[in-house]
This record gives sequence, structure tokens and C-alpha cells, in this order.
Amino acid sequence: MNKVVAITGASSGIGRAAAVALAAEGAAVVVSARRADLLKALVDEITAAGGRALAVTSDVTSEGDMRALVARAVDAFGRLDVMICNAGIGYYGPIDDTPPDVLRRLLDVNVLGTLHAARAALAVFRRQGHGHLIAISSIAGRRGIGGSSLYSATKAAQIGFIEGLRAEFLGSGLAASIVYPVSTKTEFREALTRDYGHVVQGVGPLQPAESVARAIVRCVRRPTAEVYPHRRSKLLAVLAVTLPGWTDRLVRKYTRRVIHN
Ligand SMILES: NC(=O)c1ccc[n+]([C@@H]2O[C@H](COP(=O)([O-])OP(=O)(O)OC[C@H]3O[C@@H](n4cnc5c(N)ncnc54)[C@H](OP(=O)(O)O)[C@@H]3O)[C@@H](O)[C@H]2O)c1
Repeated sequence: MNKVVAITGASSGIGRAAAVALAAEGAAVVVSARRADLLKALVDEITAAGGRALAVTSDVTSEGDMRALVARAVDAFGRLDVMICNAGIGYYGPIDDTPPDVLRRLLDVNVLGTLHAARAALAVFRRQGHGHLIAISSIAGRRGIGGSSLYSATKAAQIGFIEGLRAEFLGSGLAASIVYPVSTKTEFREALTRDYGHVVQGVGPLQPAESVARAIVRCVRRPTAEVYPHRRSKLLAVLAVTLPGWTDRLVRKYTRRVIHN
């Protein structure tokens, strides 16, 4: 695959697994996140395996950082074919108990972070006449889950954004896709413990980051509108539209329990 792919939130979890998988397929990957040491280790791993990778330390909440990320990708590899808006953080708990700074942080990283990365990439995509934007949402954005209404809202915002772009992009050479992982084994929950002292428990399917990465690789090869890495979870989207009240009761069992440390 001869594509140049930028990935936000690539220092761990889904973003890291996607970078490794895409590089193994021949893509040049531009990996970004805030933790420079982890990005360097990732670039070393990819280049040692014969792949092409560049690390750009950046924060998705900074518009300037996202413009710099895209500029570095174009400088290094001559163009940008794909931007994967993956960086994201979680939060569980009732909205009325959620501190305002946490609320703002979630919107900043998950929503504005996606928009900043997308806007920076679009400037290049329009000039090139091609480009593919991929946002990593969540099944919780497709259908809100109890105990994570704030997180679900931020993930739903990504869906509306990508759907709007898809309609705008028709016939343009540009493409946009949205990915809906279910619970995935990553640092996601560790980050909650790190940031808020929360230990989160809950039931439901759990997939490895590598299986989400494989679904992302397929989407990069052949842009598709929507990607459900855990195939059966698509049923939840259908139920949410056809039987919303019944689905409220169904998703109740997936409600996360937060134990405060
Ligand atoms: N794990 C799940 O169960 C799950 C399920 C559905 C959807 N998702 C979505 O998948 C995406 C990736 O999450 P993950 O599960 O792979 O979690 P993760 O292992 O915690 O990875 C999150 C990544 O985002 C980066 N990040 C966080 N804040 C950032 C910021 N301000 N600027 C730049 N990068 C930032 C982190 O890197 P630094 O800390 O180095 O900046 C890290 O690389 C998220 O959008 C999440 O909502 C996850």
C-alpha cells in the first residue's frame, strides 16, 4: 500500500496498533500524540521491521499542532493521503456529578481534537484533489450507553461530522469514514485511573486493538462509510433506530460501574 497516513493518538492502543499494521502493509505512517518517548519507540519498531514512520509530538487540542502535524507529513513524504482522527479519552459517571473542567476536556480532546485534525488535513486534501478522513468513534456514539452519556455525546458528535462530510464529498475524490469499536484492550481505562483515579468495571464484548487495526487497514485500502470492527455490534445500531425504548433496556446491562480510588 503506497499511502501516507497520519494518525493522532498513536502512542498506545488502537492508534499504535493501526500504525504498526499500516506500516507492515507498506504505508508511510506519521504517528502523533503527546508522549514523545512512546512515539520514538514506535518509530524504532516500525523502521527496524523495514517500514517508514515519522513521529510528531502534538496535542490534538491545539489547532497549531494539528497544522504542524500535517505540514511535517507533507514535508517528509510529499503528500498526505489519509488522516486518522483517533486520539480520545473516556469518562464515566453521571453528568450532574461531572466537574466542568472534565466536561470541557472531553469536548476539547474528542470533539475539537477531531475537528482540528480534520481541518488541517482537509486543507491539503482539497489542494491534492484526494484524501481520506477516518474518525475513530465508538459503538457508544452510535447508541448511548448508561453511565457514559458525556463520552457517548462526544463520540456521537464525530458521527454527525463524518456523515455531513460524506454528503459534501460525493463526486469530489475525497472520502470520509467512521469506525465504531466496542470495548477494546488498550490503555483507555488506565488513562481514567491515571487522570481521575477511576477504576471502571462492566460487561460486554472486548476486542483486541489488533482486530480494530485490521478493520482500519481494510478501510484505508477501500474507503467504506462505516466500519464495525466487531461485526455483531452493527445490530445495536439497527435496534437503536427501530426499537429505541427496548434498546434502552438492552444497553442497561452494559452500564459501566465506577469505583473511585
Ligand atoms: N478502548 C476502548 O474500549 C474504545 C472503544 C471504542 C472507541 N474507542 C476510541 O478509540 C480511540 C483510541 O483509544 P484507545 O482505546 O486506543 O485508548 P488509549 O490506549 O488510551 O489511546 C489514546 C491515545 O490518545 C492519545 N491522546 C489522549 N489525549 C491526547 C491529546 N490531548 N492530544 C493528542 N493525543 C492524545 C494518547 O496519547 P498521549 O497520552 O501520548 O497523548 C493515546 O495515544 C479513542 O478515540 C476512543 O474513544 C476506544
